[in-house]
Amino acid sequence: MRTLRDINDLRSMLHEHRQQGKRIALVPTMGNLHKGHLALVASARQHADIIVSSLFVNPMQFGPDEDLDAYPRTFEADQAQLKDAGCDILFAPTVSALYPNGLSAQTRVHVPEVGEGLCGGSRPGHFDGVSTVVSMLFNLVQPDVACFGEKDYQQLAVIRKLVSDLHLPINIVGVPIVRADDGLALSSRNGYLSEHERAIAPVLYRTLCELRDALEQGASAEQVLQQGKAALYDAGFTPDYLELRDTTLEPLSSSTRSAVLLAAAKLGPARLIDNLSVQLP
Ligand code: PAJ
Repeated sequence: MRTLRDINDLRSMLHEHRQQGKRIALVPTMGNLHKGHLALVASARQHADIIVSSLFVNPMQFGPDEDLDAYPRTFEADQAQLKDAGCDILFAPTVSALYPNGLSAQTRVHVPEVGEGLCGGSRPGHFDGVSTVVSMLFNLVQPDVACFGEKDYQQLAVIRKLVSDLHLPINIVGVPIVRADDGLALSSRNGYLSEHERAIAPVLYRTLCELRDALEQGASAEQVLQQGKAALYDAGFTPDYLELRDTTLEPLSSSTRSAVLLAAAKLGPARLIDNLSVQLP
């Protein structure tokens, strides 16, 4: 595996691969890798010859009171894991390489509607930051395929919309959520939890499972969501949102059958997100 920090080095190496007719996959990450990220690399391997993984803690997608400084940076361990997973190129640019004129002078990509509400509501500007950096990575790597986790369900929907609206010839692959044995979705932010909070954290997934079961048996969405919020408060969470949407993130209509339950909740210093698909009767 080659580790590249420089944009020109990346471009010239990819140019060679492309000339040899190789298919290229991109797996964007912010590092502190776990089995969820590695599942994306495994999926990328099924779709391409050359896997590029990017590692960049993107300042543009963090709000002023968020955890940019605290975000775990574990470069050597990440590099070793990517190598073992069969990644071919690790692209790890500096902030000044991607944003040479600073963040305030940077052109931004805004994806309306699907990026509003849910995490877009509680984290203003977050998806503009994600869309901007991902557009840049798409432009630098020009992948045939890019893999994103379903854990960040709204992010995946935003990227799909971006690719469609900008007519980018990139196949976006969604990869199922990888969970710990107790059901907690793996996340770099789980490391913020104390031992006590880590024991409570799987309640988020368990609650979603209970709500799904009730909804699939025909219970009223309004009641179920209210009960779910109460259960999360009781367990020690402060819910940001708990919503039932159709799979494209539109509000439910009377004909919706395939839906998704989405939740974000604070637990101590961590903001956890999770989601679960629901088949309405
Ligand atoms: P990061 O949080 O590092 O996640 C990188 C990718 O891993 C995302 O596509 C995310 O959905 C996926 N992922 C994280 N946890 C997962 C899990 N438990 N199961 C499956 N996939 C999981 O998401 C970002 O970084 C950034 O916003 C980024 C897209 C890199 C842009 O900066």
